[in-house]
Amino acid sequence: MFSRSSLVAKSLSRHVAAHQRRFASTKTIKEALGEVIPAKQARLRQFKAEHGQAVLGEVKVEHVIGGMRGLKAMLWESSVLDPMEASLIGIRFHGLTIPDCQKVLPAAPGGKEIIAESMLWLLLTGKVPTEAETRQLSRELAERGELPDYIVQLLDSLPTTLHPMTQLGMAVAALNKESAFAAAYERGIKKSEYWTYALEDSLNLLARLPAIAARIFRNVYAPEKPIASLDKDLDLVGNYVNMLGYGDNQDLTEYLRLYIAIHGDHEGGNASAHTAHLVGSTLSDPYLAYSAALFALAGPLHGLANQEVLRWQLNMQKEIGDNVSHDDIKEFLWRTLKSGQVVPGYGHGVLRNPDPRFIALQQFCETRPELLKDPVIQLVKKTYDVAPAVLKEHGKTKNPYPNVDAASGCVLYHYGLTQFKYYTVIFGVSRALGAITQLVWARALGLPIERPKSLSMDAMESIIKSS
Ligand SMILES: CC(C)(COP(=O)(O)OP(=O)(O)OC[C@H]1O[C@@H](n2cnc3c(N)ncnc32)[C@H](O)[C@@H]1OP(=O)(O)O)[C@@H](O)C(=O)NCCC(=O)NCCS
Repeated sequence: MFSRSSLVAKSLSRHVAAHQRRFASTKTIKEALGEVIPAKQARLRQFKAEHGQAVLGEVKVEHVIGGMRGLKAMLWESSVLDPMEASLIGIRFHGLTIPDCQKVLPAAPGGKEIIAESMLWLLLTGKVPTEAETRQLSRELAERGELPDYIVQLLDSLPTTLHPMTQLGMAVAALNKESAFAAAYERGIKKSEYWTYALEDSLNLLARLPAIAARIFRNVYAPEKPIASLDKDLDLVGNYVNMLGYGDNQDLTEYLRLYIAIHGDHEGGNASAHTAHLVGSTLSDPYLAYSAALFALAGPLHGLANQEVLRWQLNMQKEIGDNVSHDDIKEFLWRTLKSGQVVPGYGHGVLRNPDPRFIALQQFCETRPELLKDPVIQLVKKTYDVAPAVLKEHGKTKNPYPNVDAASGCVLYHYGLTQFKYYTVIFGVSRALGAITQLVWARALGLPIERPKSLSMDAMESIIKSS
């Protein structure tokens, strides 16, 4: 006869043995990163020594008063946008375009789309992970994904009328109670060790985002239903969709895998990524840095645009009815512009072509006839047919083409995720991929606290006079 505790111990050791067998020769993300850091540190040292005084561009008055648009002033390795490249190659993640990533990055078992884990591996290490490395990272994240009790209590105590993004930012900030980085800093650690603690916090943060985000959704929109537990054999987004209560919808799961992976990083200058970088540069821990980023994401010119797009489209449909013609849309666009509002989902701070992520999401729709029949998705396509010409004629925006948000929410709506105030939370789960990559690398490279020089108008005038 075996005692209950010896049975538990036996089953645990069988589980651990199976786990070790499966991943015995597979590097962890920390080991893979540890291998590439020394070379990059050396490269940066040499680059600074050789080219520290080289000029990359001018700083004009219009940069100072124009939101620093186009100013080259930030190191960000994981992705680069090219404003003028043809749509699908306008963004590269360590040199790979979205179609390249779709070819080489591992999908979930049984799935086709890129997943957050394979994208994170690429962003962090600059290398394409193997299938086994991807699975191991999925398992590692699932094992880190449970929420501490105090976070559950915090979320459950918030009014359901509080915007989901406010709730997300609050819960992420509160996770800093557990920060390995903050504790190690307080103990006193060498600068060369910063990145390991930043990575520890970053992986815990990413792993817990789905449970936080799903709990917000369930508290606000479906409080009566229990939330599914984390499945250690599922990928991050598979678990997220399960906890949201849509786990039986494989198409939605695949859509969210793609959306979260390709939306994860978008250069460093966008407001959320830049905020995480700025706050992280003060050596605030990754939880505090990313919660600040989430509040930048909550602005309607940034992440909130995906909720605004849907609201704008549904208003148009409500006013005009189901049979919306191109002329109707033109008229509605002009009405929006003449009332001094922006057309949500159009324009971009850097790109000057249709957003490659918009194209990738459109391609996802094209492979599914049921999506193409959906009136809201048809409206996205019809709006794309006429909006660029209207925005060009209006003459203000430098980029009259759609950005990712023009399409992202409509597919969620089709699959029954109709609570569009929640959409930016999904974006918030996604953007962590790029933000944590930079937080870890900024510590590994020893980047300093960010501190640009501001100028008053008097100061600018005197610089201009004296030159
Ligand atoms: C994304 C966005 C914030 C970029 O801003 P930006 O870099 O300042 O863009 P531009 O340089 O092209 O802006 C120049 C002018 O065009 C206007 N403009 C830009 N996009 C516009 C749009 N979609 N509809 C109407 N006007 C727009 C700007 O408000 C600005 O007007 P102003 O001179 O009166 O201030 C802007 O295009 C926008 O507000 N888009 C709608 C919101 C959205 O979809 N955000 C998601 C971004 S991924």
